[in-house]
Amino acid sequence: MIDLCFSILASDFAHLADEVAAAERGGGTIVHVDVMDGHFVPNITFGPPMVKALRPITRLPLDCHLMIEDPDAFIPAFAEAGANLISVQQEACRHLHRTLQHIVEHNCLPGVVINPATPVDTLIEILPMVHYVLVMSVNPGFGGQQFLPFTVDKIAYLAELREAMGLNFRIEVDGGIAHDTVASVVKAGAEMLVAGSAVFDGGHAEHNAAELLRIARAAAAEV
Ligand code: DX5
Ligand code: ZN
Repeated sequence: MIDLCFSILASDFAHLADEVAAAERGGGTIVHVDVMDGHFVPNITFGPPMVKALRPITRLPLDCHLMIEDPDAFIPAFAEAGANLISVQQEACRHLHRTLQHIVEHNCLPGVVINPATPVDTLIEILPMVHYVLVMSVNPGFGGQQFLPFTVDKIAYLAELREAMGLNFRIEVDGGIAHDTVASVVKAGAEMLVAGSAVFDGGHAEHNAAELLRIARAAAAEV
């Protein structure tokens, strides 16, 4: 099943509830929350209070992508605020196995994220314990960046590994996903599609979301 995880980073914050509702009407199924700390990535966004504000305005799962140093210190606060899925960057975790356990202990679904330059093989030992793997298709830090085509092979390799290891984690992709790139990642095996600008730019979230999903589902049907 294809999930459209719309990233509120590109939405109009002054009308957040309307933006989320529009993306949901267009078929969006997961709210993607990009958390940046100004240290792990060169940008600052929002923290647990944003998750708390989102919780009453939608029934969709909240997917918190933690682009922060020392995620262990903040996992309890995100869980408490209402996160359903929490992903941490492999590069930020000295004890990744422990951090993923920490997410599970806080009753959230655990995910791990790899930057474009980080090999898929760095995840082999922990793949059995994750609910999802997020393959970054841009360097994290900003919305609206250009998709990096070499990351498609990483998605395909991850899907092969999943099959070979007999696992069933889901594959998410994030960065530069739009009408012209979405088919390639879906064909490679991505099924949780993060999109920010492609959904919210121009203020037509419902239409944009529906169109992106139409292209993604057509690509999935071709596989
Ligand atoms: C990048 C974030 C992405 C970003 C996606 O650091 O993790 O989720 O907001 O934005 P677009 O879809 O505009 O590339
Ligand atoms: Zn993200």
